[in-house]
Amino acid sequence: MRTPYPVQNPVSRFHRLYAQAQNVDRSILPEPNAMSLATVGMSGNPSVRIVLMKGVDERGFVFYTNLEGRKGRELRTRAFAAICFHWAPLEVQVRAEGPVTSVTDVEADEYFATRPRESQVGAWASIQSQPIEQPGDLIDRVAEVEERFAGKEVTRPPFWSGFRLRPERIEFWRSRPGRLHERHLYRRAGDSWTMDTLYP
Ligand SMILES: Cc1cc2nc3c(=O)[nH]c(=O)nc-3n(C[C@H](O)[C@H](O)[C@H](O)COP(=O)(O)O)c2cc1C
Repeated sequence: MRTPYPVQNPVSRFHRLYAQAQNVDRSILPEPNAMSLATVGMSGNPSVRIVLMKGVDERGFVFYTNLEGRKGRELRTRAFAAICFHWAPLEVQVRAEGPVTSVTDVEADEYFATRPRESQVGAWASIQSQPIEQPGDLIDRVAEVEERFAGKEVTRPPFWSGFRLRPERIEFWRSRPGRLHERHLYRRAGDSWTMDTLYP
């Protein structure tokens, strides 16, 4: 069923729902910003993992990561991704898909500066997604980084930054009795959006 124009903006709808998710007690929903992130490798096969959403606005959904890890390499090869949130206490799922671009260095620096020092050190120490050759190598690398930055601010590694997924599709799913769940699929159409209600 296609809803006639104008439909509500799905990003505003996301914001309202996300605010509800953030208001759920953390013992029930510890990380409302956790989302599955699916990327595609050279082979065309998908891979998926959880990352934390660190920003959302009209431009898209932002997350940060090591650029040399598997997802970073896959996003460089195929700059398109899919994300999915599941807020179980709200019985809601939100999915989005779209092209991915890098955040600016300024944006990445600003976010990196807000991270706890141990996370900043960890970002330097981890060769994300690579095998650890000797037990203790990671601890040793952490110690080296701590020594290098002793008494100094830990700057952002050049291989660590953020990506922004600009949604082309956003789907809101809400549980309904009898598995007659509600699905609203928004598709970008130029400067506005269309919305279809889908069979569950
Ligand atoms: C709750 C949670 C949050 C996570 N947040 C991030 C994140 O924001 N960025 C990140 O690179 N990895 C994050 N991870 C780790 C990833 O799931 C993944 O293990 C790691 O990024 C390596 O993925 P890759 O080998 O596909 O690059 C998180 C894991 C969990 C369980």
